[in-house]
Amino acid sequence: MSSPFPYDRLPTQDEFFGRVAEFEKLSQTVKYSNNLLIYSKRRMGKSSLIKTFFEQNSKEYLTIYVDIFDITSKEDFAHKLLKALANAGKFDLKTTIKNLTSLFKRVRVEPTIDTNTLEYSIKPIIATLSFEEMMEDFFHSLNELSKTNKIIVAIDEFQQIASITDVKLDAMMRTYIQERQNISYVFLGSKRHLLTSLFEYKSPLYELATPMLLEPLDIDAIYEYSKKHLKVSYDIVEYIYAISDGETKMIQNILHLMYLQKEKEISKNMVDDALQEIINSKDGSYKLLFDTLGNNQKIALKIVGIYKKGFFANTILQEYNIKKQTLQSSVDALFAKELIDKEDDRYFIPDRTFELWVERL
Ligand SMILES: Nc1ncnc2c1ncn2[C@@H]1O[C@H](COP(=O)(O)OP(=O)(O)OP(=O)(O)O)[C@@H](O)[C@H]1O
Ligand SMILES: [Mg+2]
Repeated sequence: MSSPFPYDRLPTQDEFFGRVAEFEKLSQTVKYSNNLLIYSKRRMGKSSLIKTFFEQNSKEYLTIYVDIFDITSKEDFAHKLLKALANAGKFDLKTTIKNLTSLFKRVRVEPTIDTNTLEYSIKPIIATLSFEEMMEDFFHSLNELSKTNKIIVAIDEFQQIASITDVKLDAMMRTYIQERQNISYVFLGSKRHLLTSLFEYKSPLYELATPMLLEPLDIDAIYEYSKKHLKVSYDIVEYIYAISDGETKMIQNILHLMYLQKEKEISKNMVDDALQEIINSKDGSYKLLFDTLGNNQKIALKIVGIYKKGFFANTILQEYNIKKQTLQSSVDALFAKELIDKEDDRYFIPDRTFELWVERL
């Protein structure tokens, strides 16, 4: 059943709420053709934010959205850029194909139909082209288009470019980005170590984009929206926010489960039951994940999940019968696997559901 609280799909414009300050920041950025780097823990709402912003600004800007989560090669990356560009305009198919044919130097395009949705889109044909040729065609076309349009290019899961190692994609992007006019780049991503290393001092992309940490949604905004659909008090919304540790996806998931009983006044008990249901539904996959870890890493994960900080204390080491050095190297290993993350001196598990699952082990 669909509800006004999406948690496993992106929200429609009507379902999207909050983020007033972020919209303002985005508006200012693109107005002056500056660049922005939006980062946060996972599932805070980065993709929802940029998608909704694009929908609301598609008259004034040519918006190009690329998700590079699953790229496995540089060719993949270039192909995705081309595909996003080819499908960016809001024209009819015939006009678009005509426009693209005169825009691209080498890439040809053809219409394709999605067998699930029966919607048409445009497919770049790239079989005979090299990576360099594709990149050139993409950025050349972008520059041509920027003579008559203001453009925003959003690259989601941008940290994935670090997984391409046979070319220096960041250095290449720098060259193209520096030359631009009338084009804003918005980079989005969640793997903080990878992302920050791409934009840190002395890296090619250093200072090419203003970083913006996407904070959790405002409690007030959540309350204002949810009380339209639920019998819910401010205190309960605060409670949901607290147990979700501000993770948008979990907040939405709980609100969705509340919506299934929307005729009732929501109580803490109902919220606790919903939380348990969410954790249970992931039990199988978390067990599998947990079993891939060695013994010391399992212990380290438990300790991190429960204590968050100060866990090198002797009492804790004794309780879990683990040596300080062993714990340290296991924590480092979990960190490298991105199973845990760190903010100041506090560790956490970025997937809130998994964190709660671990706490209950
Ligand atoms: N402003 C919002 N209004 C309503 N729902 C939202 C909002 N922001 C996020 N959500 C919901 O929260 C869930 C997670 O959001 P989203 O996928 O945008 O996060 P993300 O930061 O891109 O996550 P990931 O790091 O996994 O890519 C989505 O199901 C979405 O519907
Ligand atoms: Mg996302």
